[in-house]
Amino acid sequence: MILALDQGTSSTKALLVDADGAVRGTAARPLSQSHPGPGRVEQDPEELWASVAGAAADLLAAHPGADIAGVALSTQRESVLAWEAATGEPLSPLLSWQDRRGAAHCAQLAAGDEARKITARTGLPVDPMFSATKAAALLDELDPGRRACRSGRIRVGTVDAWLLRRVTGRDVTELGNASRTQLLDLGTGTYSPYLLDLFGVPRAALPEPTASTGPFGSADGLPGVRAGTPLAAVLADSHAALFAHSAGRTGVVKATYGSGSSVMALAPDAAEGLPAGLARTVAWQLPGERPALALEANIAASGTAVRWAAQLLGTDERTLAALAEGAGDSAAVLVPAFEGLGAPYWDRQAVAVLTGFTQAAPRAGLARAAIESVAFQIAETVALFDRALGPAPALHADGGASANTTLMQLQADLCARPVRVGAHPESSALGAAHLAGLNLGLWTAKELRLRADEATAATTVNPRRDAGWRRERLTHWRDAVRRSRLART
Ligand SMILES: Nc1ncnc2c1ncn2[C@@H]1O[C@H](COP(=O)(O)OP(=O)(O)OP(=O)(O)O)[C@@H](O)[C@H]1O
Ligand SMILES: [Mg+2]
Repeated sequence: MILALDQGTSSTKALLVDADGAVRGTAARPLSQSHPGPGRVEQDPEELWASVAGAAADLLAAHPGADIAGVALSTQRESVLAWEAATGEPLSPLLSWQDRRGAAHCAQLAAGDEARKITARTGLPVDPMFSATKAAALLDELDPGRRACRSGRIRVGTVDAWLLRRVTGRDVTELGNASRTQLLDLGTGTYSPYLLDLFGVPRAALPEPTASTGPFGSADGLPGVRAGTPLAAVLADSHAALFAHSAGRTGVVKATYGSGSSVMALAPDAAEGLPAGLARTVAWQLPGERPALALEANIAASGTAVRWAAQLLGTDERTLAALAEGAGDSAAVLVPAFEGLGAPYWDRQAVAVLTGFTQAAPRAGLARAAIESVAFQIAETVALFDRALGPAPALHADGGASANTTLMQLQADLCARPVRVGAHPESSALGAAHLAGLNLGLWTAKELRLRADEATAATTVNPRRDAGWRRERLTHWRDAVRRSRLART
């Protein structure tokens, strides 16, 4: 079996996947976040590690006979921390991908001619979500002269790199994760000296980028795993979900409904330039192959908006989902721009707004508006993919909020195409397991393609509404987005 771990923003999930690709067991450990100031979102590296080790231990304890052939890892992206090279002890909190402390730095870069050059090299818009400005902020505090970095005493890395350090003892990072730092040159697959200099991050502080199948070494640091068990695959979470849906084939557009959302499709041809509103990323690198490129739209708050509304109503997501299911189309609109807006607007000054409320049924109205906010945001970015790649026949869905049937129906209605919901919402862990099994020879690429077809055909949600309804609802949403952007912080 493969032990697959998915380290996400709100929890760490663990899956046990057998040699036929079936999920034989699951475990999860929650993970907290802190908000120490405006625009600041942090997590505790030790709590994060404990959630990974704990989820793995829980799962292995529940399946004492499990023979683990390899470990697979998928991780939240862009979040960044520093640790001591000699000991692996954290020197900072984890600055979350949601953290906006790099906003002023980004604005300064955007005011000059740098933004265009940065995007041309990295495929990414200049935005505080990506690691670079956060890494710079961390180092300004820890090592203002960068001497400790240059002498190799400090490491700065993303969650994959931090976990790899704990699990394998090596300072390496997976290429897809590295491509989200805004320090990697997509053309060369290596850190760009221009960007390292621009952001003030010395090369010596960064872990070495490595293909998605490593070699990473063995997972000896993971409690309960036999010594010598290989760490067989590492993927960024959104990329891992795309791998689960597509088994590496082009033509699949998927949306991951986690704390944030990522809509993504493989798009190997980078010659045409970057389509408006989208970013380009390394999806993964398979053994002996060039890095596979993908187009992506990032939405900063999706499941987060649902959780926020549930908290406001003093309830949980499940009850909120039931409230929303009973309500009709909402007159109220929630634009959950808690940390500004991502794709297609990339406007970090936009603020969260709640518009159009009436006195009737406020609880159901808010619940419905929260669910609708997720579907609206995804629908707008799927339209960008239609323009860039031609309309995809279906949208593949995964992640925690994909279990919400009201949301999936709304999504099909707003995107005017079937939504295919995976058999397992944990597609990130599953995709990492699929790649690990391929690497270990448990299955072939052909078998994996059949498996992906079966898994993603689990539930198909067909659209029920017409074009007039869609136009009207999207106009309603865009009107609220306009207010959110006018209100600016
Ligand atoms: N029934 C539901 N309806 C809508 N949203 C839900 C439901 N259940 C959970 N969620 C939301 O899904 C999110 C958790 O999903 P998931 O576990 O996939 O996220 P994550 O992996 O922690 O985050 P990320 O992948 O963005 O790092 C939470 O924000 C939660 O509010
Ligand atoms: Mg996730």
